[in-house]
Amino acid sequence: MIRVPVDKARQLEDGQMAPFPCGEFQVLICRVHGKLYAVENLCSHAKTPLDGGKLEEYRVTCPLHGAKFDVRDGCHQSPPAFTGIISFEVEDSGDAISVLVPEKKPVVDPLGGLIRTR
Ligand code: FES
Repeated sequence: MIRVPVDKARQLEDGQMAPFPCGEFQVLICRVHGKLYAVENLCSHAKTPLDGGKLEEYRVTCPLHGAKFDVRDGCHQSPPAFTGIISFEVEDSGDAISVLVPEKKPVVDPLGGLIRTR
């Protein structure tokens, strides 16, 4: 794991989210009820960035087809996505905020889950 500083995430207010490059990942950091959560900024359905979507409570909605994901753990909550997205640990020491990401991105289905069945 590598620890990537994301101190600008401190500026996020409740209900806001923003993308941050973290190593090989594009990470979406969301603030909900005062706490920061981090997930990969990439919908598991057709690889669309999620930061153009909507954050409501703990749920981010993909701007393209409306799949929903829980920002606390990346679990998918509605079709058309059939799989979740990666979630990352956020460390907030008070002085600094970091996201812990793997050094390498895992190999994923090149079709992006489009034809996966349950
Ligand atoms: S690309 Fe996100 S729901 Fe289709």
